[in-house]
Amino acid sequence: MRYVAAIDQGTTSSRCILFDRSGRIAGLAQREHDQIFPKPGWVEHDPETLWRNTEFVLGAALDEAGVRAADIAAVGVTNQRETTVVWERETGRPIHNAIVWQDTRTDRLCTELAGEHGADRYADRTGLPLSTYFSGPKVRWILDTVPGARERAEAGELCFGTVDSWVLWNLTGRHITDVTNASRTLLMDLRRLQWDSEICAEIGVPTAMLPEICSSSEVYAEITSGPLAGIPVAGILGDQQAATFGQACLSPGEAKNTYGTGNFMLLNTGTTPVFSEHGLLTTVCYRLGEQPPVYALEGSIAVTGALVQWFRDNLGIIGAAAEIEDLARTVDDNGGAYIVPAFSGLFAPRWRPDARGVIAGLTRFVTKAHLARAILESTAFQTREVMDAMRADAEANELSLESVALKVDGGMVANDLLMQFQADILDLPVVRPLVNETTALGAAYAAGLAVGYWSGTDDIRANWTADTTWTPAMPAAEREARLRDWDKAVERTYNWAD
Ligand SMILES: Nc1ncnc2c1ncn2[C@@H]1O[C@H](COP(=O)(O)OP(=O)(O)OP(=O)(O)O)[C@@H](O)[C@H]1O
Ligand SMILES: [Mg+2]
Repeated sequence: MRYVAAIDQGTTSSRCILFDRSGRIAGLAQREHDQIFPKPGWVEHDPETLWRNTEFVLGAALDEAGVRAADIAAVGVTNQRETTVVWERETGRPIHNAIVWQDTRTDRLCTELAGEHGADRYADRTGLPLSTYFSGPKVRWILDTVPGARERAEAGELCFGTVDSWVLWNLTGRHITDVTNASRTLLMDLRRLQWDSEICAEIGVPTAMLPEICSSSEVYAEITSGPLAGIPVAGILGDQQAATFGQACLSPGEAKNTYGTGNFMLLNTGTTPVFSEHGLLTTVCYRLGEQPPVYALEGSIAVTGALVQWFRDNLGIIGAAAEIEDLARTVDDNGGAYIVPAFSGLFAPRWRPDARGVIAGLTRFVTKAHLARAILESTAFQTREVMDAMRADAEANELSLESVALKVDGGMVANDLLMQFQADILDLPVVRPLVNETTALGAAYAAGLAVGYWSGTDDIRANWTADTTWTPAMPAAEREARLRDWDKAVERTYNWAD
């Protein structure tokens, strides 16, 4: 048994990566899927495509590494979180496209549900504000919209799942999820780790359609068909929790920041949930088998890498994401322009569903190169806001936030200009590990631990190796001035959507 395979079904692509015992990549396959935008603010995926691509990359990764099923000890699954699929139990056919986490169609529904209680109606039980971000209201929308769906759901004929459930169903036939994914639905009691039947009833999600909640690391079932038939699936973690695990943030106070479609900073807070006073979410970080669950505080930013994609696809100014760095380097600064990508409103720490994107500070001087810089900088500024919230919550809860360097990963950390600017704006070093595919790696660890491929979490720590570190070099006065301008730009996004 030489490898563990991780399936990473993400927002923009599906990947399968094979890891060896040292946590190094032995094989990789990836396939992008279409983003479907039926209306402004709506984002969908075709669930059948997500599954077909997952199946494809699984086989392709084995081929690439020249590995047979017999060489695979276990499979771990990680996934884009909150994205909601409803399918028929009998046929496995989805009754609607998947509604993606960034989708804002449940805006009015969330306001209604909040009512006089406010957006924090379920915060003490779920760790989450009522927001379009989470799954529960998306399920309700599908049941309200597809004719006959509510009756069928109540009769147990329909299954709801986040993407982990959808993948597990297709791999193994079991209808399950793990605690980390369940903690993003607004339907799970964070302490009992069970569906909260009262909240389910109030949001309008019949419990008959919910998956069984499992730990993040245990043997769930064997794969039923395809090239890995008979291999156990033994780990499930939502993508951000997986990255936290893969980055070896295994003790309270350890944090990571992932730069993908959006940005997600997670701080391990230990075995009791910590509730934020500064706009962060409380979420399950991981649960290994029967061990107590570990919780995290999370700062979720909806749009970071997605803004680079927008620059590429909607404006057509660059042909590939990586080209943004060369363009940005042709100028010394942003020329006074600030871009606030509030495409789905603003998530952490401000939670402003009424916000929409702006470009502020435009003058005749500003070129596409300044905009390229402003795009990269917006990621760093948003991260700074989340970091400030993290520090404030950590201090209030007597957690000592690891302050040596921030561990980073994800597609955008290939961007050297951004990473230097990030260190400058945080006034803190940022460090990228040798294996940047921490999301897949975390899922592999969860699966490998369950089958004894790795003997314990000490192996994860031992495998973590630093690659590049960026150290802050910006004078304090300059940093403060830029943060002030950023803040002014953000205020201009407010009160746009009704
Ligand atoms: N060199 C680069 N500079 C800036 N942004 C980049 C660069 N390379 C990739 N990106 C951005 O990074 C994102 C992809 O990163 P990554 O693959 O980690 O995303 P992801 O969120 O994990 O994807 P998924 O949602 O499928 O999981 C894209 O949004 C892309 O625009
Ligand atoms: Mg990802």
